[in-house]
Amino acid sequence: MNKGYGGSYSGRQYPREPRTNFYGSEARKNELGFHGDTRPNPRVEEELFFTNESQTAGINFDKYDNIPVEVSQGCPEPYNEFTVDTIGAQLLKNLVLMKYTKPTPVQKYSIPIGLNGGDMMACAQTGSGKTAGFLFPVIAVMIRSGSLPEPEGRRGKGTYITALVLAPTRELAVQIFEEAQKFCYCTGIRPVVVYGGANIQLQQRELDQGADILVATPGRLVDLIERGRVRLDIVRFLVLDEADRMLDMGFEPQIRRIVQEEGMPIERQTFMFSATFPIEIQRLAGDFMRNYVFVAVGRVGAASKDVTQRVEWVEQQDKVQFVIDFLTRVPEGLVLIFVETKRGADYLEEVLMRYNFPASSIHGDKSQKEREDALKQFKTGRTPILVATDVAARGLDIPNVTQVINFDMPSNIDDYVHRIGRTGRVGNVGHALSLMNEKNRNIARDLMELLEENQQELPRFLERAVGTASRSGYGGGRGGGGRGRGGNNNKFGARDYRKESSDVGVSKQQHSAPPPYKTNPSRFGAATRQTPAYSTDYAEGDNSAW
Ligand SMILES: Nc1ncnc2c1ncn2[C@@H]1O[C@H](COP(=O)(O)OP(=O)(O)OP(=O)(O)O)[C@@H](O)[C@H]1O
Ligand SMILES: [Mg+2]
Repeated sequence: MNKGYGGSYSGRQYPREPRTNFYGSEARKNELGFHGDTRPNPRVEEELFFTNESQTAGINFDKYDNIPVEVSQGCPEPYNEFTVDTIGAQLLKNLVLMKYTKPTPVQKYSIPIGLNGGDMMACAQTGSGKTAGFLFPVIAVMIRSGSLPEPEGRRGKGTYITALVLAPTRELAVQIFEEAQKFCYCTGIRPVVVYGGANIQLQQRELDQGADILVATPGRLVDLIERGRVRLDIVRFLVLDEADRMLDMGFEPQIRRIVQEEGMPIERQTFMFSATFPIEIQRLAGDFMRNYVFVAVGRVGAASKDVTQRVEWVEQQDKVQFVIDFLTRVPEGLVLIFVETKRGADYLEEVLMRYNFPASSIHGDKSQKEREDALKQFKTGRTPILVATDVAARGLDIPNVTQVINFDMPSNIDDYVHRIGRTGRVGNVGHALSLMNEKNRNIARDLMELLEENQQELPRFLERAVGTASRSGYGGGRGGGGRGRGGNNNKFGARDYRKESSDVGVSKQQHSAPPPYKTNPSRFGAATRQTPAYSTDYAEGDNSAW
């Protein structure tokens, strides 16, 4: 175990010496009643906005504007620009520093909904700016209204937070926190992150200095609530990022406890965001929201059209050789390879390294330090191949990921959408390769529909697999109730489940086809001649990816 490890990516959050931080020391409050700094600081500014290379908008960014948007009744008019009147002067300044020139569609809607005091369920494709979509209205309202008073006669040392953002994985929580730090610069709002696997005492010390926006993974938050270190009594905003994942069976009990049993006010605003939202989870979401506005940019659960998708039929025992051959021809950029199990991730990483590919891996059995190191090596390009379980499937925004490979197919189409969405973000183009065989028949129909929707090449074997699948009762498909995706006449089912009729057509956005693969043999200089020793049972046994 890595005892004493601070768990910070950038060294920004848990400095050891001296005990100060970006947003001031001690739990001192500013005129808004928050705990952050309002004074500019060139060193902080440099580190937040100019040190790390961040994802820049790509050639298809403007095409986001052509995606049809479906909203439920009561949705205010969208804001088409960032202005002082809508988001405030300081947030606007920070967006200039971040080189954001205009809002993405989900942001155009989410800002006025949030400023109007509404709850919302927002669905928009991977990489289209949902993080800012929920952070902007939270920050803008907080700046306008200031903090609520802490309850009289408060017991103990707990930190009262104003906004709570929950995310399913530690790495995603850190990423949201880092975005929040940029948006909150000089606003006086202090964001803090807490997540499992990192030193809890250091996190407690951060909390002691005041936390206005807390980004958390559910397990660590429950732990801190039990220790009396976090108090939810004056929460005004609750955000569930990757909300469908947060409400599925794995997390739901913890979320229920946090939201319903720890004093969180009902008079709060609740925002749920994801690229996918199966209907049964939409139903469940209603338990946590008041009359909410539903916003869908494009079809709920649609894949990014900026990703070229290719599917190959490869038998289990041939996958390793196939991927090795493929990797020697990947032209440039970072390659993210998804496998089904933790054991499978270790196995593939080891094989790739044996063949001199610069690979590392990330999965739930690794220590947090190992996970963070692997991600850092990957982001910086020192290890441009990362083998991952689904722990890296959602939300991660890593510039320069040009190729996603599904070495093992996911078990459902929503996970496929999230995985391939690690590339082709903010209007950049990307590529996805999926290796499919007999084991993956259950996903065949949904995959075929998704490929058709995005005008991708349809392999013949997929059509045949779908034919066999329907005869043998496999792979219900979206219209047929597969994973609750509708079961109505609407081919793609999932949009606002409260809508009885499906009369609002969601027409298809036309993107120009991304360029075909260039080949650049032996970019990694790896040996590929021998067929690697291969164990067919690598993916069996431990079935948990997280
Ligand atoms: N208005 C904007 N202009 C330019 N870039 C933006 C804008 N909004 C967000 N971005 C950038 O777009 C990238 C993707 O954003 P983000 O991670 O929020 O996507 P997402 O919709 O949450 O994707 P996912 O579904 O994978 O979680 C980030 O690098 C972010 O900084
Ligand atoms: Mg996201």
